[in-house]
Amino acid sequence: MPSHMKAAVIRQFGTASVLQLEQVPCPLAGQDEVLVKVHAAGINPIDFKTRMGTGINRGWKDIRFPLILGWDISGIVVESRSPRFRPGDPVFSLARFPAIGGAYAEYAAVPAADLALKPQSLDHIHAAATPLAALTAWQALFDNAGLSSGQTVLIHAAAGGVGHLAVQLAKRAGATVIATASARNREFVLSLGADQFIDYSGTRFEEHVRDVDVVFHTIGADYRPRSWSVLRKGGWLVSITGQMPDDEPAKFGSKGKFVTVKPSGMQLEKIAGMIDEGSLRISVEQVYPIADIARAHEHVEQGRTRGKVVVSLDA
Ligand SMILES: NC(=O)c1ccc[n+]([C@@H]2O[C@H](COP(=O)([O-])OP(=O)(O)OC[C@H]3O[C@@H](n4cnc5c(N)ncnc54)[C@H](OP(=O)(O)O)[C@@H]3O)[C@@H](O)[C@H]2O)c1
Repeated sequence: MPSHMKAAVIRQFGTASVLQLEQVPCPLAGQDEVLVKVHAAGINPIDFKTRMGTGINRGWKDIRFPLILGWDISGIVVESRSPRFRPGDPVFSLARFPAIGGAYAEYAAVPAADLALKPQSLDHIHAAATPLAALTAWQALFDNAGLSSGQTVLIHAAAGGVGHLAVQLAKRAGATVIATASARNREFVLSLGADQFIDYSGTRFEEHVRDVDVVFHTIGADYRPRSWSVLRKGGWLVSITGQMPDDEPAKFGSKGKFVTVKPSGMQLEKIAGMIDEGSLRISVEQVYPIADIARAHEHVEQGRTRGKVVVSLDA
């Protein structure tokens, strides 16, 4: 193993310009961890929020710069201190979230519990695009809201990283899917299997939707208050954006919760199976070389990504 590696680090919170390529010491794999040669790292909105100092870092007690951000990884195991993985295994992961993930680097030490074998049908770029978004959609829709066959779900921001996977997972589970996005994403969202498309820029969704079983609240500061009115009594509003007061769901005779994604190698294994059987498609809008990681952050910061943005460590 080389003693040093290339990594995109930050030495302070700030704009995308704080991301700098440097040579830094290689991490060491601890007990029950593996060392992964990273080929690609997925970029999520939490990456730029944390880079700005307004993201998941707010829960960190002891912040020591330089930091290597990023959580979505696809690569090859080069050293294993876990019986579950061997050198040479292709793997993907949501690494260590909500602690520091270290994805923007040539090597990352990852807990074996956060890893699964990469879907065989995906290259590293598409595999790196998958973990955080897919686990978020899965855990929100099924582990929390309990979405099941025959139910109807309203999915906001259906063209985004989380949304485009949520639409497919909900359809696969036998739900009817109503999806919001802007008009330019109509064909894309319908191609994912959505039953009904609402262009949020020209239409107020609450005028076209009623009595749904589940709302997946992913975006839009005013969407949560408006979304309660489209739920059936006893329905579920599951949110991944904006904290929700504990007493709010009961005021509307419904259930609701803000959820934070958790790493899970076991769930990623199931997601890999769905990808390989052809029932889950990952859409990557753009790939940047690691040297252009600031541009990759700025791209995601626009909030208009269709699918995902990924950084290549090979380029
Ligand atoms: N709590 C958690 O654990 C967790 C996990 C993952 C993500 N998140 C958060 O969830 C949010 C979504 O994440 P993401 O990765 O899916 O983001 P993303 O990929 O950046 O979302 C971009 C999409 O949002 C759509 N969009 C923007 N404004 C919209 C609106 N008003 N109504 C409907 N669609 C709209 C855009 O579609 P158009 O271009 O058509 O407008 C675009 O396709 C972010 O705030 C992220 O930080 C939280």
